Order: sequence, then structure tokens, then C-alpha cells
Amino acid sequence: MSPKNVYLECFGCQMNAFDTEVLESILESEGFGILQDPSEADAILVNTCSVRENAERRAIGRLNDLSRYKGTVLAVCGCMAQRLGDRLFELVPALDIVAGPDNYAALPSAISAAISGEGRKVLVEKDGSVTYRLRSVSGSSPSRYLSVTRGCENYCSYCIVPYVRGSFRSKEAGGVIEDIGLLKASGAKEVTLLGQNVMAYRSGDCGFVDLLGRILEETDIERIRFLTTHPRDVDDGIFTLMAETDRVCPHMHLPFQAGSDRILSMMNRGYTRSGYLDIIDRARALRPDIALTTDVIVGFPGETEDDFEETLDIVERVRFDSAFTFKYSQREGTKAAGLEDDVPVEVKKSRLDNLNAAIRRIRMEIMAARIGSVEEILLDARVKKGEYQFLKGRTLHFRNVLVESENRKPGDTVSVVLKELSKFTFIGEEITGR
Ligand code: SAH
Ligand code: SF4
Ligand code: F3S
Repeated sequence: MSPKNVYLECFGCQMNAFDTEVLESILESEGFGILQDPSEADAILVNTCSVRENAERRAIGRLNDLSRYKGTVLAVCGCMAQRLGDRLFELVPALDIVAGPDNYAALPSAISAAISGEGRKVLVEKDGSVTYRLRSVSGSSPSRYLSVTRGCENYCSYCIVPYVRGSFRSKEAGGVIEDIGLLKASGAKEVTLLGQNVMAYRSGDCGFVDLLGRILEETDIERIRFLTTHPRDVDDGIFTLMAETDRVCPHMHLPFQAGSDRILSMMNRGYTRSGYLDIIDRARALRPDIALTTDVIVGFPGETEDDFEETLDIVERVRFDSAFTFKYSQREGTKAAGLEDDVPVEVKKSRLDNLNAAIRRIRMEIMAARIGSVEEILLDARVKKGEYQFLKGRTLHFRNVLVESENRKPGDTVSVVLKELSKFTFIGEEITGR
């Protein structure tokens, strides 16, 4: 029998992007080929997100769009698959397989069965211990993701993730080191450790900072990043490591979600605004140049203009490098779904616009202040801009840089002087002869 081919698409967060790599590695190890074009595929697999209503709407639209490839098996996995289960067959009539995040090891046989004409299948049992080791690595980018925790049990009142991703679990430390070895062998220079609250990592007596210590000692990976940190789990040891070595990049993504204690408490976030600001002070005491990014929600039920002013106030005080900002979206089954979604959509929109304007202004000020400085850039891709060829890369602080260079390639780390800004990207020039 000739080998079967699968085409994959991915929606959602970095954890889903990593899972898509895992899925490719599982499928390849079971003899499937991975295609870049859906029209030739025996099966199409879409990895989906449930975090906001919009995310689901887009995924369902795309699945129905992909249904035009008749005679192809259509499968959906990820968080929306877990949340909606067999309800998806009504929303996407051409669908054959629904698989939740703990069921990926069973996907190859489900896909084979569907290709040979077996009926629909729903795989949404929760396991609670699955962590997915890499079996093989097909990517070659210098900058890679690696999930080290899965699931979440924080139950922020607005959030669907604990319901779809299941209980919190950590990958065994030795497994993390081996996975990094695999990534390194395929060209990784930088690894971003992932988890919904990655600093809660714990395997036996190894916590997150211990894990980083082991990675620093037992691998020679150039740069380590991590994402996402919940304020509740912050261990100051991480800032000490950042002060000791640039291999732990001086950047932390620390969502604050809302600036008023009243809303934070209704969100069940487990910290106050002063508690949050305190973490930032401690971080900057140990690593003064640390770059901070965040997530913010506007228009949570009951949010007043005064509450929103406190959100803006946090932005002004902390001065984030950038932020992901969202309008509150009610999710069925969450605690906040019991509250009336009472902030009118126009108010949500105008708050979001104000917030984004403040974030952009500060971001520009932070970046403009770096012009003229020399930074180490890890190049990660080639890009074409008009008639010019550039290499794209990141500073240690995760800021984007384009470098014009003929004899460099992705994976190289170069010293670059930051010359100017094009929107939120630096244009840099390599310093030679050093
Ligand atoms: N685990 C991460 C966040 C994961 S979801 C953390 O706790 O920080 C990514 C972001 O989506 C969240 O930080 C939040 O800002 C946003 N989000 C989650 N649920 C949402 C909802 N119901 N409506 C709007 N935004 C939401
Ligand atoms: Fe959602 Fe909160 Fe868990 Fe983040 S920590 S995934 S916002 S429940
Ligand atoms: Fe979305 Fe699931 Fe990530 S709901 S944000 S893809 S964990």
C-alpha cells in the first residue's frame, strides 16, 4: 500500500503550534507523509483553539472551507475538538474525526481507519498524564518551542483552558533535556519552554528554576525562553539566573489581565495590583533591563470606567514592551458565564483602542531609546522586503531586527548596531572586524 499523506493546519497559541509539531512527528513515525498542499492529501487535520468565540468561529469556517476537498478524510483536534466533541458533526457536516489534546497517539490509527472507509470517530477522553515526548523532529528553524507542562488548574473565571486542556502535569526533567537534544540536533539555537503556567513546573523535586539550571548545565543550547508565566507562580530565582547569564533571555511574558483588585478578584487571578507591581520591582532589581510583555482583557462583566483606568495605570507604570489585548468573550461553562456580559460592545472596543494606543506609544518609546546600541541578534529566517533581502532575528529581549547581510544565514548570532526603526522592527547593521 502506498504511504498516506496528511496536511495540517494550526490555530491558537504556541502550545498548539508545538502540538502540531508533535502530531507531525507521531504521524511520520507511523508511516504518514506530511504535505504542504491540502489538494493532494488523503487526510486534512486542523488543530483548533477555544479561548474566545472568534477563535472557534474562524476554525469552523476554515473546516467547512476545507470540506471542498471531497474524498479526503477531515479531522479536527485541539481545544475546540475537546470542548465540542460530537457537536462538531452538526457544525461541520463533512467531518470524520474529532480528537482532544490527550488523544494524539491514537490519531494515526483513527486516520487510517477513516481512509479505509470506517465511520466517524470521537476521541475526547481526558488522560491527565500525557506529556508527549518528541519522537522525531522535522522542523529546522533555529528557534523552537517545547512544551514542558500541559493543562491548567487555575480556573480563572473567564477561561475555558482548564476544561479543554485538563489537569496540570509536567514533563519529566530528563525527558525535557533529551527533547532539547533532539531539537538541537536539528538546528535549534534557542528553545522556548511552554506551558499555560510554565513556572508552576514540577517533576519530583525539580521545580522550574531547577529545570533551567539543569538545561544550562547539561545542554549547550544558546538561548532559553519561557512562556507563559502566571504571577502566582513567579519564583525570583528566575531573575537571579537572568542576572547571571544571558542564556536565560531577559524577557518575561507575565499576563496581568486587569488593573483593579475588584476585577482581579472576580477573575479569580489570585493576586492584587500591588502584588503584581511588586513582582515587576523584584524582577527589575535583579535584571534592570528585563523586557516585559503581557496579556490584558477589557470589558470583563461589571468593569467600570474606573476599573479600566486602573488597567491603563498598570500599563503606564510597568511600561511593557508589547501586549496581547482582548475583548472579554463569554465562554460557556466557565464561572464568569454566570455573570451578565454587560459591558456594551462599543465600550469594549473603545477601551481596547485606548489601551492599544497606550501600549503602542510606550513600545515605540522603549524601542527608540535603543537606537544606536549594539545587540546580539540570533538570526532566524530570510525575508524579502521590496527589492532587498534581509535576515530577520531577535534581540535577547525578543525585539525584532532586520539585518542586511550577504554572508550570514539563519542560526548565526551576530553583533548588530540598531540603526533605525521601521514600525516596530529595528533595521540593524552587522558590526564586522571584531
Ligand atoms: N495561561 C495563560 C493564558 C492563556 S490564554 C495565563 O494565564 O496567562 C491567553 C490569553 O487569552 C489570556 O491571558 C487572556 O488574556 C485571554 N483570554 C482567555 N480567556 C478569555 C476570554 N474568555 N475572553 C477574552 N480573553 C480571554
Ligand atoms: Fe486560563 Fe487562567 Fe489557566 Fe491561564 S492560568 S490558562 S488564564 S485558567
Ligand atoms: Fe487556545 Fe487551547 Fe491555546 S484554547 S489559547 S489553543 S490552550
